[in-house]
Amino acid sequence: MTERWAMGGELSVARIGYGAMKLTGWPRGDRPGREAALAILRRAVELGVNHIDTSHYYARDGVAANELIREALHPYPDDLVIVTKVGALVEGSDLALPAAQKTGLTPGNLRRGVEANLRTLGVDRLDVVNLRMGDLDRTGTPLAEPLETLLALRDEGLIRHLGVSNVTAAEFEEARRIAPIACVQNLYNLARRDDDPLVDACAKAGIAYVPFFPVGGFQPVTAAHLEAVAARHRATVPQVALAWLLARSPNILPIPGTGSLAHLEENVAAGTLRLSAEDLAELG
Ligand SMILES: NC(=O)c1ccc[n+]([C@@H]2O[C@H](COP(=O)([O-])OP(=O)(O)OC[C@H]3O[C@@H](n4cnc5c(N)ncnc54)[C@H](OP(=O)(O)O)[C@@H]3O)[C@@H](O)[C@H]2O)c1
Repeated sequence: MTERWAMGGELSVARIGYGAMKLTGWPRGDRPGREAALAILRRAVELGVNHIDTSHYYARDGVAANELIREALHPYPDDLVIVTKVGALVEGSDLALPAAQKTGLTPGNLRRGVEANLRTLGVDRLDVVNLRMGDLDRTGTPLAEPLETLLALRDEGLIRHLGVSNVTAAEFEEARRIAPIACVQNLYNLARRDDDPLVDACAKAGIAYVPFFPVGGFQPVTAAHLEAVAARHRATVPQVALAWLLARSPNILPIPGTGSLAHLEENVAAGTLRLSAEDLAELG
């Protein structure tokens, strides 16, 4: 059976979600055609996915994740949880700007980011907004002020729950002192486990940990014994990578991204793949 987790203690989601970045080819790489992208989003929901990760800045050459989500799924099912992010990037094109010109964490641009997500998703309130720290413009930018800005936007009724992304363990603790935090979204997978202590800290606090790049992102995940374990289960390597995340801690909610219907179906099916103690020992 597919396991679930209540984000923010109330938004019940299937543990395997979907990351919409790949639908746009942002910041680089291939992407599916428009009809294929819409079909993937609709199929994800049909398969029981109800946690979709996106942002207004997932957009390239006029193809924007939020607009695809809106076209495919609006009016949204009651139980669909759409998680967006604002912060270190204002728009996708900011990636190319020098650090000093990136101003996504200022109060005005955080509001602009929230409003852009509301408008492009076609909602009055965003389910979850991650404050995305990280990137080059982070130096000297404390987390407190931008998080307080998002808290005020939440109090205005524009946001239901807050999360943080690309944060250190110390920033996570600081964030929790400022606002209730529903989720942490950081890089983590079978081959990149730097965040092990943060995964455990989130679990202890009842907070979701959402690993981005769950199957390796731009570089498919590789690890010792991965292929052998996959062969034993007649599963694929990405499926084992996802099953490993699910086994690692009950608060882990992977959001694999894909532009392929077949891969989407595989990834959702990984939600019911149970690794044995022997498999987990082999994977280290
Ligand atoms: N907060 C942040 O800073 C941050 C940063 C990066 C990403 N994110 C979020 O995290 C989500 C996940 O990250 P991601 O999509 O970059 O990385 P990912 O899910 O680890 O990997 C996606 C890549 O893996 C391939 N893939 C996925 N499932 C597969 C399967 N079953 N078999 C073979 N290949 C498969 C995809 O190619 P195909 O299209 O060929 O399947 C795609 O190239 C993003 O969509 C985005 O929403 C957040």
